[in-house]
Amino acid sequence: MGPLRVAVINGPNLNMLGVREPEIYGRETLAQIEASLSAAAAELNVQLTFFQSNGEGELVTEVQRLRGTADGALINAGAYSHSSIALRDAFASVSVPFIEVHLSNVHAREPERHRLVLAGQAVGVICGFGSYGYEAALRGLTRHLRAGKQ
Ligand code: DQA
Repeated sequence: MGPLRVAVINGPNLNMLGVREPEIYGRETLAQIEASLSAAAAELNVQLTFFQSNGEGELVTEVQRLRGTADGALINAGAYSHSSIALRDAFASVSVPFIEVHLSNVHAREPERHRLVLAGQAVGVICGFGSYGYEAALRGLTRHLRAGKQ
């Protein structure tokens, strides 16, 4: 079976991981999380691309780019996860299966973090496992994508 192409997309303030509220988000940087994901991807025969932006429009453009270029995606849209109908519409436009990731358990936090506007379109949602959530999501997405191709 050929390599799967998976896009890893991170939204606002995730470039600040490592220094940003480490008691909530941990001490790993985004670069370290991406390096761990790359190791898991090599084992799973998955090709990853990485994208991070603080801008909602840039994220929408990146999701649009997935059409025809990615088999699936992982996204931590940061605070836009709670508000961005534009990102939800972008995923609806491209029909690329994705998993939503959050480092923290958003459901154990403030009420405004409980609403997840992309989640209804996701294959699944992983939250509360810190940086391991990205690897868990990659494994779950790979399994989901390959199940359809066996
Ligand atoms: C987050 C949770 C969001 O509520 C927050 O705005 C973030 C990070 C997480 O990974 O836990 O920026 O998506």
